[in-house]
Amino acid sequence: MADVGAVSAATVAWRHAHLLQLGGLSDAELRTVLVRARQYAGLLREADRVVRPTIGAEPTGNVGPLEAVSGELRGRVIANLFFEDSTRTRVSFTVAARRLGAEVIDLTSVGSSVSKGETVGDTAANVSAMGVDGLVIRHRSSGACHLVVRTLAGDSEAMPDRRRDPGRRICSVINAGDGRHEHPTQGLLDIFTLAESFERLNTFDLSGLTVGIVGDVGSSRVARSDIAGMTALGARVICIGPPALAPRSLTALGCEVSHDLDAVLPELDALNVLRIQFERHEVKAGESKENQPRAASSNVIASVREYAELYAVNAPRVQRMRPHAIVMHPGPINRGVELTAEVADSGRSMVLRQVTHGVAVRMAVMSLCLSAPVS
Ligand code: CP
Repeated sequence: MADVGAVSAATVAWRHAHLLQLGGLSDAELRTVLVRARQYAGLLREADRVVRPTIGAEPTGNVGPLEAVSGELRGRVIANLFFEDSTRTRVSFTVAARRLGAEVIDLTSVGSSVSKGETVGDTAANVSAMGVDGLVIRHRSSGACHLVVRTLAGDSEAMPDRRRDPGRRICSVINAGDGRHEHPTQGLLDIFTLAESFERLNTFDLSGLTVGIVGDVGSSRVARSDIAGMTALGARVICIGPPALAPRSLTALGCEVSHDLDAVLPELDALNVLRIQFERHEVKAGESKENQPRAASSNVIASVREYAELYAVNAPRVQRMRPHAIVMHPGPINRGVELTAEVADSGRSMVLRQVTHGVAVRMAVMSLCLSAPVS
């Protein structure tokens, strides 16, 4: 695939049929996915230009937003198995698969036999047995995607009675977020956005950049993927939050930890803002579980108001960051809690650039994993 106008970063032959995490990938492997994503981003930009030559003009081209820009996965089938809610990731994987020419099947807990107690391993094995080529899985349990891979491989402990067709290629499993473990494609699109903002798309070398991750880091699969990927590519990462949300133990992942956002701001080139994941905290006595995402408090912070005073990213705080610094957020945003609307909608905000890059990144991941040698 042509990649005009960019110096090539060092890449390697991609050997993974699955993408379960960024932790453990080498810098060269990360660059391999990112360079492929850069190529797809170019194709998507070209398709967009063909369809919409100027804003407001009638479409003149023949490349619609869900039509293929590359036929690499024509005839292949991707199944989205989302056992937890999603807006961005699910739609983005669907768009990315369609852009590669693949067919897409959607399955959620509601309306599937998961509601009757079927396990994620059994669900995945059954969908795979129909000849699907790739499973994109979101699940509330950390390690769910690893379990699925073991199940599909006929691992005796994971699924003792498994009888797999020995002649059939195992389908690829792509982690779309598992519990508090990892969200690897979000990590990749965050890195892509960072590289674009600091003109590192030629090498994806992030050395010299300091990235803050503020908020509910302990509950965050995005943070774990960001830390793994960004530090592997040379960035300095500082996790920021109150001790209950950003514990010192996070340093084991290769990042620094600070409990003082205001002290760290002047050092930051980028700040990734995370929402408080009330749904992953224990419910306080007397609080209803239904209200958790919008609850005023949880077991780990005294009050949202107090949290916001110390950690909410607002315009005065952004002013104290480095002059070129950017603000990212994986979404969904709880406006007025961890991020003010003023900042979310400002020129510093890369929130929608992140979403845009998600399509190219997911195209790259699906293309590489579905073409990898059978393991
Ligand atoms: N960033 C992210 O994972 O968003 P969704 O939960 O909407 O997929």
